[in-house]
Amino acid sequence: MRAEFRSLGPDETLELGEAIGRAAVPGLVVGLSGDLGAGKTVLTKGIARGLGCPRWERVTSPTFTLHNVYEGRLRLHHLDLYRLGDAEDLAAAGLDEVLYGADVCVVEWPDLFLPEFPEDRLLVRLRWQGPGETERTLELSASGASSTAVLREVSARAAALLRREVVDGEL
Ligand SMILES: Nc1ncnc2c1ncn2[C@@H]1O[C@H](COP(=O)(O)OP(=O)(O)O)[C@@H](O)[C@H]1O
Ligand SMILES: [Mg+2]
Repeated sequence: MRAEFRSLGPDETLELGEAIGRAAVPGLVVGLSGDLGAGKTVLTKGIARGLGCPRWERVTSPTFTLHNVYEGRLRLHHLDLYRLGDAEDLAAAGLDEVLYGADVCVVEWPDLFLPEFPEDRLLVRLRWQGPGETERTLELSASGASSTAVLREVSARAAALLRREVVDGEL
């Protein structure tokens, strides 16, 4: 299932993230692709808020630490794979275990590592969308039963941000 959302500013991206956090289930893996400054970390803040993490406002890109953990309704792992070379590095950092654990896992720069991800996952592609500086398109694709159920709930909760009807798969 795929659905496209439009965000007109950081608050709307936070709101979409919050819907993901509220809908999240144990073991959910969310990959966030998009250029630097696209809003991956803003979306992660929203997810942390939706999971009820008291420290959601302090979420920052773990570009140097690779991995941050926040406590909430479910534990949230926030990964940034920008500096990782290959799948061996992923295993060496113990991050493969995190991806297959029972917590929620949000991963910035997942693209090189998607073969290592669980098949059932939610991928978010964030794109700049002119003409305004703050407009973004967020395309969400779910590839399994669990992530599809999450995306369905997100679409219901964030209906105001839903740009087009679901592109494929029934809602
Ligand atoms: N619609 C939007 N959604 C998210 N961030 C936005 C939006 N419009 C402007 N911004 C700004 O863009 C920046 C996104 O930064 P960040 O989330 O750290 O990007 P990334 O993690 O993708 O590199 C922030 O400064 C944010 O305020
Ligand atoms: Mg970031």
